[in-house]
Amino acid sequence: MRGIILAGGTGSRLWPVTHSISKQLLPVFDKPMVYYPLTTLIMAGMREILLVTTPYDLPGFRRLLGDGSHLGIQLDYMVQEEPKGIAQGLLLGADFLEDEPVALILGDNIFHGGNLGSGLCEHTDPEGGRIFAYPVDDPTAYGVVEFDEKGVVVSIEEKPLVPKSRYAVPGLYFYDHKAVKFARDLVPSDRGELEISAINSAYLREGELTVTVLDRGTAWLDTGTFSAMVQASEYVRVIEERQGLKIGCVEEAAWRCGLIGDRELRELSRPLLRSGYGRYLLGLLDDPSDEEAVRP
Ligand code: DAU
Repeated sequence: MRGIILAGGTGSRLWPVTHSISKQLLPVFDKPMVYYPLTTLIMAGMREILLVTTPYDLPGFRRLLGDGSHLGIQLDYMVQEEPKGIAQGLLLGADFLEDEPVALILGDNIFHGGNLGSGLCEHTDPEGGRIFAYPVDDPTAYGVVEFDEKGVVVSIEEKPLVPKSRYAVPGLYFYDHKAVKFARDLVPSDRGELEISAINSAYLREGELTVTVLDRGTAWLDTGTFSAMVQASEYVRVIEERQGLKIGCVEEAAWRCGLIGDRELRELSRPLLRSGYGRYLLGLLDDPSDEEAVRP
């Protein structure tokens, strides 16, 4: 399975902040936003990842993440000339995917929770489509799943004015090879986009859509507005300062997944010592409570 991170878009809900910088390069507390979805994909087992972004922002992402080799992954880049919809990411990624299944994640979605990594690994060879549902207070800004009284999925609607449930669809989608074919058949919606909800609806029509409700111990945050950005930063700050463990630390994820070793982690920490981020990475190597560190 290969991963795609969608990090394009205009970021217009954050203008003027995002006039000159990609939204997904903005900080969420102590690291760039894109670290969070990248960490999620690494923890889910992806080793080949394509980042889709605008022509203007691509150099910035490349400066930040390079070819991924420092993290033991292969990172490729693709330009999306105009934000024609999330499902267009599947079309742009078609050659990269080579008929492999895909984990598509939105560059502004943050997931955090116990066993999320190992839980996500269960989805890496999906038959059909696997998506998630998460209860939110106001679902009108999202794709919304409707369930019948037996809990069977009946419909998926994009940003409904009158939502049929309070279950939003988070921006993490696992699809088999048919996703690209479904994307080729899509027509743009009224707002001119190839909608990801239409891909999910296509799987649903074929009887091949599995929807897992994320348990309430999982946090799903998006960063679509100024307030949501501050909330996400505050969430990360509170948890990190309380636990002394970072959320969305790509270097740690790569190290814990065995993609890089102690020596590489130490190397990565070196230029980051002044901000404290590097000290955190070094601390991982010394932590006696850490299973990896005490393993003989
Ligand atoms: O956050 C989850 C929601 O994300 C889902 O519930 C919705 O079904 C889905 O449509 C999407 O809704 P948004 O309104 O939040 O999508 P937005 O246009 O903000 O784009 C989400 C991310 O995808 C953002 O990081 C920018 C990127 N993107 C978006 C579009 C439309 C692209 O890279 N290219 C695009 O063409």
